[in-house]
Amino acid sequence: MSEQTVFKQTRAYKMEVAEDTLNNPSANTTFGDVVNNRLGRRDALKGMLAVTALSSTTGILGTAISATPASAEALTHFKFEEIQHGVDEKHHVAKGYDADILLRWGDPLFKGAPQFDPMNQSKAAQEKQFGYNNDFIGFIPLGGSNDRALLCVNHEYTNEELMFPGLGRQDKAKYVGMTQEIVDVEMAAHGGSIIELKKEAGKWKAVIGSNFNRRITATTEMALSGPVAGSKFVKTKADPTGKQVFGTLNNCAGGITPWGTYLMAEENFNGYFWNKEAVSDHPNAEMLKRYGAPGQWYNWGAYYDRFDIAKEPNEIHRFGWIVEVDPMDPTSIPKKRTAMGRFKHEGAETILNKDGRVTVYSGDDERGDYLYKFVSKGKYDPVNREANMNLLDEGTLFVARFDANGTVHWLPLVHGEGPLTKGNGFENQAEVLVFARKAGDLLGATKMDRPEDVQPNAKTNKVYVCLTNNKHRGSKHPVDAANPRTKNPFGHIVEISPENNDHAASVGTWNILVQGGNPNKPDQGAVFNKATSENGWFGSPDNAAVDGKGRLWIATDQGSNWPKTGTADGIWALETEGPQRGTGKMFFRVPIGAEMCGPCFSSDDSALFLAVQHPAADGAKAFPGFERNSTFEDPATRWPDFKPSIPPRPSIVVVRKQGGGAIGT
Ligand code: FEO
Ligand code: CA
Ligand code: CA
Ligand code: CA
Repeated sequence: MSEQTVFKQTRAYKMEVAEDTLNNPSANTTFGDVVNNRLGRRDALKGMLAVTALSSTTGILGTAISATPASAEALTHFKFEEIQHGVDEKHHVAKGYDADILLRWGDPLFKGAPQFDPMNQSKAAQEKQFGYNNDFIGFIPLGGSNDRALLCVNHEYTNEELMFPGLGRQDKAKYVGMTQEIVDVEMAAHGGSIIELKKEAGKWKAVIGSNFNRRITATTEMALSGPVAGSKFVKTKADPTGKQVFGTLNNCAGGITPWGTYLMAEENFNGYFWNKEAVSDHPNAEMLKRYGAPGQWYNWGAYYDRFDIAKEPNEIHRFGWIVEVDPMDPTSIPKKRTAMGRFKHEGAETILNKDGRVTVYSGDDERGDYLYKFVSKGKYDPVNREANMNLLDEGTLFVARFDANGTVHWLPLVHGEGPLTKGNGFENQAEVLVFARKAGDLLGATKMDRPEDVQPNAKTNKVYVCLTNNKHRGSKHPVDAANPRTKNPFGHIVEISPENNDHAASVGTWNILVQGGNPNKPDQGAVFNKATSENGWFGSPDNAAVDGKGRLWIATDQGSNWPKTGTADGIWALETEGPQRGTGKMFFRVPIGAEMCGPCFSSDDSALFLAVQHPAADGAKAFPGFERNSTFEDPATRWPDFKPSIPPRPSIVVVRKQGGGAIGT
């Protein structure tokens, strides 16, 4: 099957359309150019040898690459029996582990909430039930307890062809099947869920009806907070103060802060806005283009004026932020923390810096866009939780420039500094933050291959940047040594070592940990440690988690590219230190058409929570024996219920070692 056909048939049509657009017209260097200069094509093709040599010696031009800290050397290796690559209707986990369904789309979360009834969906029911397409998962232990916790889960987006009977793909049908009632269900299925969990007989269960339980949706009241709040860019007819906004959209990955708040990243917000014909009349037409807006992936704008850029030009500036939620208070108003900039935030992982400030890493997930970090001005107070609640409103946002000599420079997005002046069209700091992508262009940030989760490791202070793919390699972006594969469908992982283990530092060093794909097919240019088995390599790293031992676990999102690796997405353990550095090992596999999201460990590593997103959707036509697009009536799998009347349901899985104990030991 041609790649063209593969790309057309998937759910990820929404996300893949986004990837298709070239929204960054700047002349900034691509990450590929940098790697090419640094490694040289021949070295990269030699594979892991070249990479390990670079990472274990002093850096190019005498810049010392941080020595492996003692704690990292002591990282234990992964112990489990690897599973095999493959694809079928079910999920699979390593031998000796249980992988149980914890929560499914439509499960009631509150007392009196209706049971899931796919033939009779309503906004009222969905607002009381677990949402669609679970993505980020955060785990917050309750009151120092080992058997009570809050689980925070993002619901990224909706697939109408799998959720509702008789619709099929509406973007292909001019939305003729859509009604306001269906749109209202979609809006209620977005956002996030906070659910209390209780451990009973060693197993985590959801506490239905707990007072902590909460649904956040596309209509929940939120506050705009930080430098952009009240600015002219975010004032609307409904909100002349520019401080009150309703809802959060396309919440992909996220993070949990040291003070126990939940960060929800707003990723492809552009897709929810409507009226392409009105772009040229929009006051910020150039910036709409830079952000790929309006994407018109949903027809909410046909029913709600705020999603129509002609009727409400500023509503779009109120999305694309990091939202901070206090899960301890279900009545609290979530805050959009504008100091962290507006772009397609994949996630927002926080690390406590050694000076007490916090750094939040965040990728802008689009081909050719940038990597950012935010450093707070104030310091974390470990004793007084309340004192930390506005820490993310003040600080400095930086964008990354990767140099060929192995250094990474963090360039501040501060109004009046460097090119970020009135002369270049920035009136004030609010404008720099609202149009952070333009600021990155002017600062000369490095164009990356779709930055997804950016995972700091508190044990080693290294930072792992998952880069998922870039199909414009070889055409619009030049092919290079580290990306010798045209279209780079398999991505790679960049490792950053901050200078002196200081996450506030404006400089650090970088290396490539692995390059995705099949190392046995030289044309794919994959780079893994030679010790990696035939099931241990993977493509398209997306989300990442670090366990309590400081070990890295990677979740993949190949989209409709999975037939090229021959395996469904899943979880791989990935060695980062010592001679085994770059060795992958497959731990979990999703059912056909699903994407693996949200790996998250309980505090003691005895449970691993996984989000199985959009089962049956991606690449169904390539599924042997199925070979057609999935719909509500006819899906490639009915995971996890496998009942003829129940459609596939995105669900949270909890993995536990039989008999207990830490995962992977
Ligand atoms: Fe929602 Fe970047 O994946
Ligand atoms: Ca993702
Ligand atoms: Ca993560
Ligand atoms: Ca993804």
